[in-house]
Amino acid sequence: MTGNKKGQNIEAYLLEKYAQGQISQTVCDAITALCDAAKKIAELAAQNGIGTASLGALTGAENTDGDEQKALDVMADELICAALAPTGIAAYLSEERDDAVVFAHTKERLVVASDPLDGSSNIDTNLTIGTIFSIYKAEGEGWLMQGRAQQAAGFFAYGPQTLLLLTTGQGVAGFCLDANGQFIQMDWQPHIPATTSEFAINAANSRYWPAKTKNYITQLLTGKEGPRGRNFNMRWNGSLVADAFRIFRRGGIFLYPQDSRKGYEDGRLRLVYEANPIALLIEQAGGRASDGTKAILDIVPTGYHMRVPFIFGSADEVDSYHSQQ
Ligand code: AHG
Ligand code: MN
Ligand code: MN
Repeated sequence: MTGNKKGQNIEAYLLEKYAQGQISQTVCDAITALCDAAKKIAELAAQNGIGTASLGALTGAENTDGDEQKALDVMADELICAALAPTGIAAYLSEERDDAVVFAHTKERLVVASDPLDGSSNIDTNLTIGTIFSIYKAEGEGWLMQGRAQQAAGFFAYGPQTLLLLTTGQGVAGFCLDANGQFIQMDWQPHIPATTSEFAINAANSRYWPAKTKNYITQLLTGKEGPRGRNFNMRWNGSLVADAFRIFRRGGIFLYPQDSRKGYEDGRLRLVYEANPIALLIEQAGGRASDGTKAILDIVPTGYHMRVPFIFGSADEVDSYHSQQ
């Protein structure tokens, strides 16, 4: 389990994992580089609208997945790519790029896949946004691997605090950016309780949901008078990192299922740089993460921007969703 060393900085934490043989020097360097880029992204987000044009302004371009790119999407992507270039990472995959950026054909063949700016619709609304990353060794042809192959995964959340939630495969650690610009480990052992009374879903899409989702959410909405015999609460931030962090803090279930809208046949969230890293963190903290039937981490990716239905959080509640007809 992650040592709960209160107050050590991320550099000391990574050195400890390296000394324990959990991660390589390249993984250390990549996470350190991501922290440097995250600090710059946090600063940009915090100064949005003063001295710069709106960072939520549309650039006029679209990414491969058809999302309209906002200024901060592109700036965050460029900051991360530049930070990773000198670290020994072989390739960089990004939500904002069609193809892999190949830095070098190294023996280690380490890949960083990232959602540089998650929650883009919230850039101009002063709500929590973030950066998600996944680090794995590419075996065989190409740069894609199943989520189980991840050596490290994490996300930064830019909100009232600038936070990092990180796993290197032995539990999850939380870090907070302090006044001196250091990521300091928090005195908290992230663990997701098996049960919950809180769910996160975009209810505006309910008419598009499959029967399984409709039946499940109806049960929660009928509360004490319904089959669950207790009331539930709902939260939806429109930022995966914000909803995920809340679930690490107090449990919950997050659902972005497939729906009948064109392009949403496999939901909205992308496997390689959203679902896989979050799923590894969730499992490492005792939770469950699935596409509604099978574990996210067992799904074989067929493309950089492949979407998956994404259900994660408190294990008993995810199992309750699985048992729906
Ligand atoms: P991104 O900004 O990287 O495209 O991610 C947005 C995702 C995720 O953060 C959030 O949970 C979801 O989109 C919100 O989707 P809706 O806007 O359909 O609710
Ligand atoms: Mn995202
Ligand atoms: Mn994004």
